[in-house]
Amino acid sequence: MLRSNTCGELRIEDVNKTVTLSGWVQKIRDKGGLIWIDLRDRYGITQLLLEEGRSDANVIEKARQLGREFVIQAKGEVIERVSKNPKIPSGEIEIDLAEINILNASKTPPFTIEDETDGGEELRMKYRYLDLRRNPLMKNLALRNRLSIETRKYLDSQSFFEIETPYLIKSTPEGARDFVVPSRMNEGQFYALPQSPQTFKQLLMVAGYDKYYQLVKCFRDEDLRADRQPEFTQIDCEMAFVEQDDILNTFEGLVKYLFKEVKGVDIEKLPHMTYAEAMQKYGSDKPDIRFGMEFVELNELAQGKGFKVFDESELIVGINAEGCGNYSRKQLDKLTDFVRKPQIGARGLVYVKCNEDGSFKSSVDKFFDQEALKIWAEKLNAKAGDLMLVLSGEADKSRKQLNELRLEMGERLGLRDPKNYKPLWVVDFPLLEWDEDSKRFHAMHHPFTSPKTEDIEMLESHPGSVRANAYDLVINGVEIGGGSIRIHDRSLQKQMFTHLGFSEQEAQDQFGFLMNAFEYGAPPHGGIALGFDRLVALFAGQDSIRDFIAFPKNNSGRDVMIDSPSPIADNQLDELGLKVVK
Ligand code: AMO
Repeated sequence: MLRSNTCGELRIEDVNKTVTLSGWVQKIRDKGGLIWIDLRDRYGITQLLLEEGRSDANVIEKARQLGREFVIQAKGEVIERVSKNPKIPSGEIEIDLAEINILNASKTPPFTIEDETDGGEELRMKYRYLDLRRNPLMKNLALRNRLSIETRKYLDSQSFFEIETPYLIKSTPEGARDFVVPSRMNEGQFYALPQSPQTFKQLLMVAGYDKYYQLVKCFRDEDLRADRQPEFTQIDCEMAFVEQDDILNTFEGLVKYLFKEVKGVDIEKLPHMTYAEAMQKYGSDKPDIRFGMEFVELNELAQGKGFKVFDESELIVGINAEGCGNYSRKQLDKLTDFVRKPQIGARGLVYVKCNEDGSFKSSVDKFFDQEALKIWAEKLNAKAGDLMLVLSGEADKSRKQLNELRLEMGERLGLRDPKNYKPLWVVDFPLLEWDEDSKRFHAMHHPFTSPKTEDIEMLESHPGSVRANAYDLVINGVEIGGGSIRIHDRSLQKQMFTHLGFSEQEAQDQFGFLMNAFEYGAPPHGGIALGFDRLVALFAGQDSIRDFIAFPKNNSGRDVMIDSPSPIADNQLDELGLKVVK
């Protein structure tokens, strides 16, 4: 080894030891008589010291040739520092340098490699390997490593088998577009990269591997957001001979184990909330239940009083923002602007301030007198000093808009503490979802999800009302995972494909392999997949997953470091039987 110790481990007890460290030069301070060098590696920073008159003149000369990010080997004796630095673990000691070896020079990096860097986003993405040297990113990847180890430990303890499934496959329908790979040996034909190992894990159940898992890359060609990458990792699982509760209990166990082992946090039993309840109370299928502020419907109280906007609305729905009754005109205007943003799209916002003297001041005083507003306040459980915020319009849209406003108010009121973890199961998702563009039903989860037995009879008459044995794991308003009990019966699966608008031929072409497998003794089975990148980011209290992935893509799906995607040579295209039409 080119070192006896790391840059993070030496302490006051090591004084007088002769050590060799290797690492990168973080900073050099040359004060004439004294030179200090901060040497950094994955484990920390140790200060090196040279003193004119006392240290070897050749070593001092070498030190003066060093620049930031040079890779050096440093030998010397551990000594106690005169002025200690309590901010770093090695802050009580420094190394009295006897020898420096320059292992490699470095160009001056395009940004500072420090916790707070001066580099912009795009520049840091281009030099990702330099950005990864920074402490915050190292910490993120260390957390990722820890979570993957603990996940494997837990699943192993529950007799799960890790099995790899192929990446060059045929399309799996998870609702996004596929990334495709042309086949040289089968000209004009394409593999698809898996959006998830869904069909393979079901085949593994038919094969008898009744508890499967995999930390697996998935690929989805969809619009990117802070919590979406085109390639991301899932903790993907499947179990046979189980019912929904068995899966929920097993993965509730995983969630509790991870929080305890990695964060030292005890998580209580996860509540179950139906999709219908989540939409009604929070306007979202991933409710943030760290705070209340539940929706209250006001149609009965607010319609028929001459206010046209309300009278023409399908839904009038409000929340109570506790303690916000003193909001100024300006603050209320800002909230109105917030709900009117195109991304949210409300037409306007009705507010009612509950004054300290028991009176009300609202934006609809013309239509609603004090008595009427008092009844609203009772319904919304609003007290003096509170602020009622009301939206109206089409039911689904108004709920979604109020969900955004509720989250915004939660944020403003400090109710969304990232260190407070409130996971829950959202259950009983609808089986099918109407798609306005294609004018047909799509599987809300995926086409292998089983309908609730008691709802099957509605498949023909009220397809939109059929509930599925499908569930999501939601933590702090983030969809961390989703899964379902699958259809294991060939004829029901066939019926599902028909409902989803697949002709018999299309179903056979795309999923014949699965339906055929179901003829050879498919056990009842179900599973779940957790978004691993999202889970890691959540554990670090962050919304964006990008800095929890070593080499992520930017918002346009590009890797600006390796410059990909990029054109390929004509001969490569020829070999693949492809032509680029410009
Ligand atoms: P689903 O599509 O719900 O289910 O995906 C499971 C979880 O994967 C995460 N996720 C993503 N994370 C980052 N970037 C993305 N683009 C992205 N897309 C999804 C989410 C999500 O909850 N095969 C089914 C699971 C099953 O039925 O067992 C599936 O993939 O956290």
